[in-house]
Amino acid sequence: MDTEEARAIARGFDPNRLSAGFYENPYDTYAALRTFEPVHRCPDGSYFLSRFAELDEIYRDRAHFSSDKKLVFGPKFGADSPLYEHHTTSLVFNDPPYHTRVRRQIVGALTPNTLRALEPGITALVDRLLGQLEERQRFDLIEHFAAAIPVEVIGNLLRVPREDRGPLRGWSLAILGALETELTTEQRSRGEKAVVEFTAYLRGLIADRRRRPLGETDLLTRLLQEAELTESELLQNCVFLLNAGHETTTNLIGNGLYLLLNHSDSAERLRSDPQLIGTAIEECLRLESPNQLGNRLVTQRVTIGGVALEPNTYLTLCIGAANRDPQEFADPERFDIARRPNRHLAFAAGGHACAGMGVARLEAQIALLRTVQRLPRLRLAGGATRARRARFRGFLSLPAEVT
Ligand code: HEM
Repeated sequence: MDTEEARAIARGFDPNRLSAGFYENPYDTYAALRTFEPVHRCPDGSYFLSRFAELDEIYRDRAHFSSDKKLVFGPKFGADSPLYEHHTTSLVFNDPPYHTRVRRQIVGALTPNTLRALEPGITALVDRLLGQLEERQRFDLIEHFAAAIPVEVIGNLLRVPREDRGPLRGWSLAILGALETELTTEQRSRGEKAVVEFTAYLRGLIADRRRRPLGETDLLTRLLQEAELTESELLQNCVFLLNAGHETTTNLIGNGLYLLLNHSDSAERLRSDPQLIGTAIEECLRLESPNQLGNRLVTQRVTIGGVALEPNTYLTLCIGAANRDPQEFADPERFDIARRPNRHLAFAAGGHACAGMGVARLEAQIALLRTVQRLPRLRLAGGATRARRARFRGFLSLPAEVT
């Protein structure tokens, strides 16, 4: 791409009108934006930001930037819709003091001890799935592997009975799908239906937990007993937790496998030096961030990247672009599983930084390391299909085989 072409792409960028090619590879567009329009005004008056420095600053500044989405989701979903109630009630789209009250209980339940206790179960699950892949020989790394792990882990965390877990992934995909920048009527109604069904299911689970609380290490019991939530707040935060822990982690595992299978030298290096798994997962998070876009609303006049922003301006923070910013990362397009430092923003930063990052890292580390160790002859079989999504980056299907 020459300079003039890149400049034109940056100037004309509209997140509400993305091309088919963008979903496949958004990174050339992101590079053009970083270079020529790092604080880009979109046709609808919102701003799209793509440099690391500005994102890092905004994520850490709660005085000027709000996570509250009522103003934006009212027109998007309709103020009486289930999607509006869900998204505006979950902690991620709220500010203190409500946000603090819910977050405290979640962080309090996801301690290092909780993580340590999860490890043997995740390892056993991963080993069982890998055994099944070996038997099948040809399989889909998303359906038969990546998607099967987070649903079990988050299901175990909230102690959802195993026989009830079937619909969880579909509900989660439908609800998160409704957060896309461009939303079809079908996506919207699928999302509405999923919120209604999901909350109906959770009412039963919560009633059961009220009757039989499980102690302070249980996430749901803590939310029930300590957070002083209304029934709706409790339900919607449980839906959020099940969703947050789910699709993003599936995508991290899928994207990570894709990167390793396309960089056999890195897979080989990891096999011979398993200690690299920690930095390898951080590199997968940086280079193919599962959550590519975040949002904030300006609450007070502020200047960012030399641009004055007025109150009520809506911002899209492009994590996928910031994580390849050459001002922050040396040789940012290179996949380097030993990269240090690697201060990426895949989990955001500041007061809303991902509360489940320890869980996600643990799942991905076990899944990827066990895979390269146990299946050295694993190969992609062609036909990888990406989900057509700008916010959540991952594969719908990743056919592979053991040769
Ligand atoms: C690779 C997997 C994951 C990625 C990339 C990811 C990414 C993120 C990001 C970027 C945010 C900040 C959103 C914002 O403020 O704009 C966030 C928030 C959150 N995530 Fe994750 N997440 C992942 C996995 C998980 C898991 C496994 C859980 C639960 C066990 C989880 C629970 C949460 C919660 C509760 C919040 C809200 C935090 C708050 O608002 O204070 N996430 N996540």
